[in-house]
Amino acid sequence: HWQMGDILKEKIEEIRSQVKGRKVISALSGGVDSTVAAVLTHRAVGDLLECVFVDHGLLRKGELEQVTEAFRKMNLPFRVVSAGKLFLERLRGVEDPEEKRRIIGHTFIEVFEKEAEKIGAQLLLQGTLYPDVVESAGIAGSQVIKSHHNVGGLPEKMNLELLEPLRDMFKDEVRQLGKLLGIPDEILNRHPFPGPGLAIRILGEVKEEDLELLREADYIFVEELKRWGLYHRVWQAFAVLLPVKSVGVMGDQRTYERVIALRAVDSVDGMTADWSRLPYDFLDHVMRRIINEVKGINRVVYDISSKPPATIEWE
Ligand code: XMP
Repeated sequence: HWQMGDILKEKIEEIRSQVKGRKVISALSGGVDSTVAAVLTHRAVGDLLECVFVDHGLLRKGELEQVTEAFRKMNLPFRVVSAGKLFLERLRGVEDPEEKRRIIGHTFIEVFEKEAEKIGAQLLLQGTLYPDVVESAGIAGSQVIKSHHNVGGLPEKMNLELLEPLRDMFKDEVRQLGKLLGIPDEILNRHPFPGPGLAIRILGEVKEEDLELLREADYIFVEELKRWGLYHRVWQAFAVLLPVKSVGVMGDQRTYERVIALRAVDSVDGMTADWSRLPYDFLDHVMRRIINEVKGINRVVYDISSKPPATIEWE
């Protein structure tokens, strides 16, 4: 695509002229925006860019390995900071969703800040898109319903100059740019994943053993969506672990175990959403696999709420 090629050249020039030989730091998340911003910036300034992946211990099954592999393939150098223990400690006993987000956001900044100091960076790279700029300026009249943290709040505290090469672009343009940069489709077409990760998909207190349960159930759901060719037909899909137990029967044994809710939505931008009309046979198959394979789950429900009035996530 010749137009994208021109945009790419222009962006590279812009980045070079802002960076001026100084060091840049970036927080990778495995998401589309931060990945495109990092690969683009790496193309422009090479090893002046240092990427950090903070593992908050709230990732999905196999996610760190998958993302690591993808970055290696793209020759994008990065370091992983494993901070799962710290995040879980801070979250102990905390039940309120916004409090969980606040703790995760602050802990993220603290961990990332330490890395930035070690690296001695002067600029902070962010994958901010045009809609984010509009939203935070309040032009969309958006009200804070959930405080989406991402890495917002980092720059003010850290005294770093912001580098935002995607701030005049829309998501579909970023995907095209990413394709031109050789970023694999599995990253470009991934479902969105929230910054606080699985912490907001375990209702109430986050415990290690519950993370394990949720990881297994979520993995089965997403794996089957891919296998049935449905993954790219939905905008976002995931499992949620509910804080209730219900009665069931396995063989001739009574069980009293937890409930998994499956959520899949159709949407354009996440602002509004409708529940995906997934085939009954598919849902049936996923239900069987989850109950048979995930110890501690004896019931699976499918969320048929639209946004509004519900939100996409349960917290
Ligand atoms: P809601 O639940 O608000 O979700 O309808 C809309 C989209 O935003 C994602 N989401 C978050 N992303 N930090 C994030 O980075 C957050 O705290 C957060 N909460 C929700 C959600 O996954 C969906 O794609």
